[in-house]
Amino acid sequence: MNATKGWILPAASDVAHRVDHLLFALFVVTGVTAIAIAIVIFVFCLRYRRSAQVDRSNAPANKRWLEYTWTLTPLAIFLAFFAWGAVVYAGFYGNAAGAMPVFVVGKQWMWRLEHANGRREIDQLHLPLGQKVRLVFATEDVIHSFYVPAFRIKQDAVPGRYTELTFTPTRLGTYDLHCSEYCGTDHARMGGQVVVMRPEDFARWLAGGGTRPTMAARGFETFRRLGCSGCHDSRGSVHAPDLNGIWHRVVHLQDGRTIVADEAYIRDSILLPKRDVVAGYEPIMPSFAGQVSEAEILDIIAYLKSTTPEPR
Ligand code: CUA
Repeated sequence: MNATKGWILPAASDVAHRVDHLLFALFVVTGVTAIAIAIVIFVFCLRYRRSAQVDRSNAPANKRWLEYTWTLTPLAIFLAFFAWGAVVYAGFYGNAAGAMPVFVVGKQWMWRLEHANGRREIDQLHLPLGQKVRLVFATEDVIHSFYVPAFRIKQDAVPGRYTELTFTPTRLGTYDLHCSEYCGTDHARMGGQVVVMRPEDFARWLAGGGTRPTMAARGFETFRRLGCSGCHDSRGSVHAPDLNGIWHRVVHLQDGRTIVADEAYIRDSILLPKRDVVAGYEPIMPSFAGQVSEAEILDIIAYLKSTTPEPR
């Protein structure tokens, strides 16, 4: 079953309908306006052509109400569309509570995806129907853009930071996945499929493929292999912050700022440790840039998350 066949694109996510309604309204308003203007131009061309015997005296010179009307009406319409669009846009980045996380790493020229239980896929993303999903994007090299037309979602993966998107798949089927940011030779071939499955089928799929370490378990391995645990441990010989339960904790920094320990903070602390130095500690940690891949950083984050009791 390939739901993207045919020339009407299916709307397969909760955000898709919102995007479609906005686009349709924009199309109707601009279309009606364009047609109305074309009609007026046509009528005036006929009526006021050179040979026509019409009254051309007393042409209105300065009608203030008219000026206000044609200035303020389009302004109001544009502002209304702006507000509507802003609400739809905010919906992509809205409340991620209860969302299932999936980690997406772009790489010339493939998408590598990882589920929290450690199941990995390449150029394929399996999702359960009706489950809110939070995609977290990183890239190993250049900018890529994760684009699923049937979901009406498109999000850049940007070097040096995490981006994210939240949505709910609402329709079973297989949908095309593309890269929509030019990223080199095989950009056009960088893509794959998103498969939306019934929740019970998804659970079976997620559990399948043999036993494998979870992201958190792999993260713990990496944490040890890189020697992080040598310092960041309550028993560590070097004075460094204990990272147990760090996730979503408020961290006080040397320069007086406070920061919430989220994905971006942990990633920055690994790659740019001098930037956000924790209050009361020396800036002695070396950067691990170049020694650790984006996928490994995501694993470490998953491990640190797992040391924190489930919030709420
Ligand atoms: Cu990746 Cu274009």
